[in-house]
Amino acid sequence: MKLSFEEKEYLKGKHGKAAKKAMELLVALGNIYSAKRLIPVESVQIAGVSYQNLGDAGLSLLEELAQDAKVRVPLTTLNPAGIDLENWQNLGIDKNFVEKQERILEAFKKMGVIVTCTCTPYLIGNIPKYGSHIAWSESSAVCFANSVLGARTNRESGFSSLASALTGKTPEYGFHLDKNRKPKYSVLVKAELSGVADFGAFGKALGEKIGNSIPYIKGISHASLDELKSFCASIATFGGTALFHMENITPENVKPPKKEVYITRKDIEKAKKSLSDSGSVDLIAIGCPHASIVEIREIAKELKGKKVKKEFWITCARPVKKIADSMGYTEIIEKAGAKIICDTCIAVAPLKNRFGYMLTNSAKACFYGRGSNNFKVRIASLKECIEEAIK
Ligand code: F3S
Repeated sequence: MKLSFEEKEYLKGKHGKAAKKAMELLVALGNIYSAKRLIPVESVQIAGVSYQNLGDAGLSLLEELAQDAKVRVPLTTLNPAGIDLENWQNLGIDKNFVEKQERILEAFKKMGVIVTCTCTPYLIGNIPKYGSHIAWSESSAVCFANSVLGARTNRESGFSSLASALTGKTPEYGFHLDKNRKPKYSVLVKAELSGVADFGAFGKALGEKIGNSIPYIKGISHASLDELKSFCASIATFGGTALFHMENITPENVKPPKKEVYITRKDIEKAKKSLSDSGSVDLIAIGCPHASIVEIREIAKELKGKKVKKEFWITCARPVKKIADSMGYTEIIEKAGAKIICDTCIAVAPLKNRFGYMLTNSAKACFYGRGSNNFKVRIASLKECIEEAIK
């Protein structure tokens, strides 16, 4: 790989020890993927923030890096952590976990990372522009940035995205290049899709059919931001896809390929059925990916004057909750007995075995509820989730 004078200076340690390590990692990655050069990035999103995933080894490494590391990309934001920073006491989180989690966030802050703690950075100001090169981890956000925004990122790991933040660079390979953004399959959707749960089931059905290939999707006349965010999370989880094109909806101008794949109502129902265990619900979870203000408004409208009989969690970015507070939505939701939780989510908070059965409108939440937390799960529309909560 051809390196500039400045990039070589990083390797010599001229910008500090942490930046040297970061550059070494990016050069090694570039060599593995036969990149010709490093390119500048405008935005970074770092995943792998919860103490649950990082453990003591991750915490020590971050604290060591924070000794002399400083981000070179001002727009560097962070994925959810393991706790609600302002309200962990009410969620039954262990004090030792909280102390370790706070040290992790302190280390990121010391490096200059904006500790947003959300997987929907695009809802709170980290919105890369069309065609810009970025380095994001968090599979749902990567898929959203590539597909819906038309920015360009590979599916980075927590440490490769941090390395990009510390150097301002990423190796030019994969989705940064035009030739790798072309679709492999034309997907004809022969079903009317409506709502976050439908789009989540669609992502599962399609992901399982085409794996991590890029689809060109036809037949969807309308998709809201919340439906697209659900679809991104699901197709990335169940298929590994980091990019899709959707006719008349996503911005990139590409030709539909000849190879065709069909998705019917039967496929959607089959995907939903595979995300439906039997049992009795004790947790209702909305906000995977983190909820938008539109979703919170909808929940407030439905819960007004009612009481939930089960634990009901809505996870979102803190700035989104601030808007909900000022609009009076939080008060309505809390009066009904539900909780708006920030900075964390059901997959990265330490919830293993805390609940038995989770009802959710998110296909990705079903996957992690089963895999990470041993929950039984069922996917349902937002309306059905609310009906179950108040019945
Ligand atoms: Fe976000 Fe957690 Fe879901 S990081 S996409 S809410 S599993």
